[in-house]
Parts: sequence; C-alpha cells; structure tokens
Amino acid sequence: MAQQEDVFKKLVSHCKEYGFVFPSSEIYDGLAAVYDYGQMGVELKNNLKKYWWDSMTLMHENIVGIDSAIFMHPTIWKASGHVDAFNDPLIDNRDSKKRYRADVLIEEQLAKIEDKIDKEVEKAAKRFGESFDEAKFRATNQRVLEHQKKWNQLHQRYSDAMNAMDLDALKQIILDEGIVCPISGTRNWTDVRQFNLMFSTEMGSTADGAMKIYLRPETAQGIFVNYLNVQKTGRMKIPFGIAQIGKAFRNEIVARQFIFRMREFEQMEMQFFVKPGTELEWFEKWKQTRLKWHKALGLGDHKYRFHDHEKLAHYANAATDIEFLMPFGFKEVEGIHSRTNFDLSNHEKYSGKSIKYFDPETNESYTPYVIETSIGVDRTFLSILAGCYEEETLSNGETRVVLHLPATLAPVKLAVMPLVKKDGLPEKAREIMDDLKFHFKCQYDEKDSIGKRYRRQDAIGTPFCATVDHDTLNDGRVTLRNRDTMQQERIPIDRLKDIIAKEVSMTELLKKQL
Ligand code: GAP
Repeated sequence: MAQQEDVFKKLVSHCKEYGFVFPSSEIYDGLAAVYDYGQMGVELKNNLKKYWWDSMTLMHENIVGIDSAIFMHPTIWKASGHVDAFNDPLIDNRDSKKRYRADVLIEEQLAKIEDKIDKEVEKAAKRFGESFDEAKFRATNQRVLEHQKKWNQLHQRYSDAMNAMDLDALKQIILDEGIVCPISGTRNWTDVRQFNLMFSTEMGSTADGAMKIYLRPETAQGIFVNYLNVQKTGRMKIPFGIAQIGKAFRNEIVARQFIFRMREFEQMEMQFFVKPGTELEWFEKWKQTRLKWHKALGLGDHKYRFHDHEKLAHYANAATDIEFLMPFGFKEVEGIHSRTNFDLSNHEKYSGKSIKYFDPETNESYTPYVIETSIGVDRTFLSILAGCYEEETLSNGETRVVLHLPATLAPVKLAVMPLVKKDGLPEKAREIMDDLKFHFKCQYDEKDSIGKRYRRQDAIGTPFCATVDHDTLNDGRVTLRNRDTMQQERIPIDRLKDIIAKEVSMTELLKKQL
C-alpha cells in the first residue's frame, strides 16, 4: 500500500509538471480542494466527456442531451431533499481547531483494523509460501479472528448510528475508540453537528429583495425539472433518457486525494424515465451497459467492481456503485440508482404543476420511475491516469515515464518531429502537420535530441510520433513510432492520416462497448 501511495504522489506531481492539473489559485497558495485543468488536462477531459456524450446520445436513439443552468429556483432543493438532508456529520478538535467528518474518522479506525488483518495475512503468506491457504488462515487464526470481531462490533455500532443519524452515538464511538486528532494528538472533541454541503449565494441587487439560491450539488435536478419540456418538444416516448454534463458544487468537509473529492467538480448524469414496475429490469440493463463503457477503456477488467448498496436511501429501490482500483484502494467513480418517482412527484407537489406522462399506447397518465447513472468526470479522469501511468524500465536499463492512455482520449494524437532543425526538414514536418491538423490534435517539436522528444511525448501519452529525416525528402516516408511498443516503421506520408485516424477513432472506442 505504501508503495502505491508513493506512485500516487508521483502521479500528482506528474499531472502538474506536464500541464494536466494545477492547484487552483496557486500563486495565492491555492484554494483547498479546487483544481484547474491545464493544456493537456483539458484535452483529455474533453475527449472523456465526448466519449460519454456520444455513448449516450449516439448509441441510444431514445437518449437526448440538455444543458441546464447552475442556478435554479431554491424550492427545487427543498423538493429534492437537499436543503433538509444533504448533510455530513462534522466534529471539531478544540486544540487544533481542525474540522473532520465524524463518519470518516470512524471509517479510518475501521481501515486500521483491516490493515492489521492484512498484515497478519501477508506475514503468514510469506511464512507458508506456496502452500498458504488464505481463506483457511482468515477463518482460524486467533489474532485475525480477534481483529475481525472488533471490526464487526465497531462496524455494527457505526452503521446503527449512521442509519439513525444519531450524532451523540457517533461522538461516543469516537471517544470510546480513543480516536485522536492527527494534528494536535488530543481527544478534545466538540459535539458532532450536521453540516449542509450546499454552497449558497444571493440573487438580486437589493439586500431586501435578494433571494438565497444554491450552487447545484448535482446536475440531476436540472434534468428532472425539464423532463416534460424535453418529452413534449422532442416527442419522446417512455422509456427515454436525458443526459447532461456540468459542474456541481459541494462544500466537502474533508476534501482529500487530489481530484477525487473536490468542492467544484463535474458530473455526467443520465436520467432514464421508465414505466413503473419495469425499473428493476432497466436498473440491471444500465448496470451492465455502464460497466462495459468503463471496461472498453482497456485499463484492465479486474480494476472494476460493483458495490451494491445494502442500506438504501428512502427514495431508492436499488443502488450500486462502480468502483475502480485507485492507488488508494477500490473507490466509487459512478453511482447507478433506481430512484423510483421520488424526485418527479416531489417536484409535482412543491411546484403545484402536473408533470405526469401521458402514455398514448395505454391511454393512461403516470409519474415515470427513474434510473440514474451518475459519473464524476474528475474521478474518471483520475482513474484513467492512475490506470495508465507507468514507470517503465526498458531492456537497455533506461527508464521512462509513460501514460498508456486510450489513443482516442490522448490529448495529442501525433507529434511531428524533424530529425534536425535544418536541411529543409522543419519545412517538410510543418507541411505534414498542416495537412493532418484538420483531422486530429498534432504537436510540432524540434527541440532537443529525438530521444528526449520521445520521452516528452510518452509522458503526455501521445500514441504516435512521426520523425522526418533526410530520406523523407527523397522517399516520401517518415518513421512512425508507437508509444506502447516503441516500435518504429517507415510509412509513406500519405498513409499517415488513415493509420492514425483508425487508431484514435471515437467510433472504434464506442464499438468496443458492444
Ligand atoms: N445525482 C446523484 C449523485 O450526485 P453522488 O454519488 O453523490 O450521486 C455521483 O455523485 C458521482 O459524482 C460520484 O460517483 C463521483 O464520481 C462524483 N462526485 C461526487 N462528489 C464528488 C466530489 N466531491 N468530487 C469529485 N467527484 C464527486
């Protein structure tokens, strides 16, 4: 694990060094849990969003997109339950004046016990070698059983307290477990309080007439309140979906792990409206469809798993997360929820307007049920980088840092390089670039040795480099180098476009999901 954390730190500095992600407002010492995407990051992020958008709106004729405003009528957040219930339990340490999420402190305590068990297992695996039976060891070893018993008891207390949102019980667990503040090292805790995660601001010019509004904490509500507009103007028939990509804002108490948990982030959400009674069937379909979308990226099927929710929110009748194996363990990147008709009927109630769907086939009106797929752009971006980052030792003993990005998502598809900066080679390279730049993102690079230039392109994940040398002027061929295999091939210039276009094609990536 420590080694993985090390890789993660390197990945974070790599992101900064190569223009993927910068801390926001860096020259003013940054702004906690807010990040900016740099020149490479924005290209990768836009490609990722296009992959999702096309997967939804091209591959499903019954899914259309919208782009709703971030500011919405404040009653929307009352109807959705966010004003009353979008809370995290927070606790302060009086000595360090640091604020923590009470649930996170307890979860870290649970993780410590899990670590102890893992260490016992690791030690035993080393001791017994090939003949080690892990399942049997876990089921019989006395120390493991003691740790497991402690974990079960703590987990039960914690689940009970969270389910009942019993803030006193949460504090009591923290005290009983002797959890200390990592900064002050003391147990001088305040009571646990509820903290609403929504940011608010005021709309209107006069103090008296100003209205308190919220920065949306999810994009989904913009879809719910527009569902009938889209259904009517688009003549959509149930089942149909509405997709949206946009910013969301949450005043996270504990924001850590780089772009994994941010205060301003981006979501790609799709609400699929179905006939009541068919929702669980659609839930299963969307689970599989979304998993295929992730796996088509080629980061390794074993890095994904479902985490089905045992305890469901009161409005849901099924829910699962798609988790990815990050350097800090399996973590949620996408949530798939069967949300019943909770949101639509509440909007009906709070707005006083009927938003029922009239089914022309059965001549009946009903409030549709909704399956939601909700994926974080930034978390997926992080999962892709984590899955593609490699410090590779080459056969000649040299090392290189390479991003094995899916070619379709790579910020730059082709680097065009004259071998030397003279003899007409730069002009030839420019000519190639000027032709290909209409088809995909190219970068011209003539500085430093060719080896250094290859390393720079490896580091940003460019799948192809084309080198123009003196022979090019005579035979009309360039050397095309593949990022992953590092193999080089002489290719006629007029074939470059087709070869690269096929490899970086969005269509090919979309088809991989079938
Ligand atoms: N409309 C449902 C909804 O918002 P969620 O599980 O709270 O569900 C969905 O969020 C996805 O949004 C998560 O799976 C995650 O990828 C992303 N997400 C949520 N909070 C985030 C944060 N603070 N920073 C980055 N991504 C976040």
